[in-house]
Amino acid sequence: MKRRIKLPFLVLAPAVVVLVGTATAASIAALGTAHLRAQSDASAQLRSRVLSETLAARLSATPEEDRQPLVERAADRSGAELILVQQDGAIVADVSSGAPQQKELVDLLVRVEGEARTELGPARFTATPLASPNQNLSLIALVAAPETPFATGSLVASVAALAALLVSAAALVALALARDVKSDVRFVMNRIVEVAAEGADPAGKHIPVRSVDQIGVLTSAFNVLVDRFMAAENAYRHDLMGALAYDRDRSAFLAALSHELRTPLNAILGFADVLLSEVDGPLTEDARENLEQVRNSGGHLRALIDDILDLSALESGELRLDCRTVDVYPIAVEVVREAEVTAKSKSLDIHVAGGAATAFADPRRVRQIIGNLVGNAVKFTDKGSVHVRVDPRDGGASISVIDTGPGIAPSEHEAIFQEYWQSRDARRRRVGTGLGLAITRRLVQMHRGFIDLQSQLGKGSMFRVVLPSQPPPPPSRPMDSVRLPAISESDLGDGL
Ligand SMILES: Nc1ncnc2c1ncn2[C@@H]1O[C@H](COP(=O)(O)OP(=O)(O)O)[C@@H](O)[C@H]1O
Ligand SMILES: [Mg+2]
Repeated sequence: MKRRIKLPFLVLAPAVVVLVGTATAASIAALGTAHLRAQSDASAQLRSRVLSETLAARLSATPEEDRQPLVERAADRSGAELILVQQDGAIVADVSSGAPQQKELVDLLVRVEGEARTELGPARFTATPLASPNQNLSLIALVAAPETPFATGSLVASVAALAALLVSAAALVALALARDVKSDVRFVMNRIVEVAAEGADPAGKHIPVRSVDQIGVLTSAFNVLVDRFMAAENAYRHDLMGALAYDRDRSAFLAALSHELRTPLNAILGFADVLLSEVDGPLTEDARENLEQVRNSGGHLRALIDDILDLSALESGELRLDCRTVDVYPIAVEVVREAEVTAKSKSLDIHVAGGAATAFADPRRVRQIIGNLVGNAVKFTDKGSVHVRVDPRDGGASISVIDTGPGIAPSEHEAIFQEYWQSRDARRRRVGTGLGLAITRRLVQMHRGFIDLQSQLGKGSMFRVVLPSQPPPPPSRPMDSVRLPAISESDLGDGL
């Protein structure tokens, strides 16, 4: 492939101007010189004719002996070379720097007028015969017609000076233009980079259109792009505001609805408990069974409403923690004791191990966290065991809930923490709401702790929660918080 050498525009533009300018000046000078020469030749011819004719007329009327001095005087005054010759070329009077040969003189007489060569260079001549009775004599007047006419030097000098002036002015203008184009390109480029930068503020600012060339077209096109980008961004912001408002409305609605449901539900559960305690009279076996069913379903419904209430409080930021330094171990023991009934009904071995481990946390929420994890473990494990371990861990308390259940596929490790996400099996069996783990993770993050999961399909799962033991550092010392992973806004902010 042929490589093309690319000259930078900044050099190319003035170079082209200089070249074109010099060529034009040279051709003007050449044309002018040629014209000057033609003019000089014509005027020399005219002078020789006038001189020759006037002098021939005077010589005709001059006696023979006075002719030589007359010719000399005339030559002296006019600066021309004058030769008086006979028809055969013999010289009668000669005032020249060196007369041509006789043969050449005859040639001049025959040609009458035109170009000739003298000792001093090219000349124009005219031969005029004297009036009768001297018509055998002719006067030849030779007027010098130099090859480079007298004014040529000054013409060339003036053209050169003018050309130099104009060419340098044009080159300077070209240079300035080229620089301007370059700076415009750089300006547009910088603005594009600026606008494209993440979080750039001047996204909607136009670039001033400074020229009407391609750069101008580019700038205008870019401005159109900025407009469209702005419109899209505005539409996006508008939609986002709408979505946020909708989210707030939905949370408020859910909270209000749950609240309204809880009151009658509590009454139902209360009366069911009263009836089950048989203070109002003994129950038949069937009535007791039905009433227990009402009690269980009501309890399930209340748990569901509690979850929804918690979630909307978490989402709207209304959920406040009442943190203090607590020992997590007794809470775990209590949760396990409560789960024992269900575990035993499934012949699961459930136990808690470890020892005292303090965390700076809200005990009610710690109970909820462990409760959710243990509840899941018991719910999804059909045989084997559920094992809870509480250990102090540098900077906090670690709680692990290990089961021998079905396990969770790696592809679902993230999904299970999302709201309303349930395994197909859980959905089919209509157990739970899919909110437990979502709430658990948010609560853990509010405590500035973290939760992780290890699981093997068919073997079981281990959920581990770590809660910090120290209160959050005052805002002036933010670096102290690096010991535990901070909660990112995206973690807290993912909507339903
Ligand atoms: N210990 C566990 N073993 C197997 N699967 C689990 C376990 N814990 C949670 N899961 C899966 O995660 C899903 C989400 O759990 P969760 O948010 O508590 O909702 P729910 O318990 O109401 O189904 C469950 O439906 C289940 O598929
Ligand atoms: Mg659950």
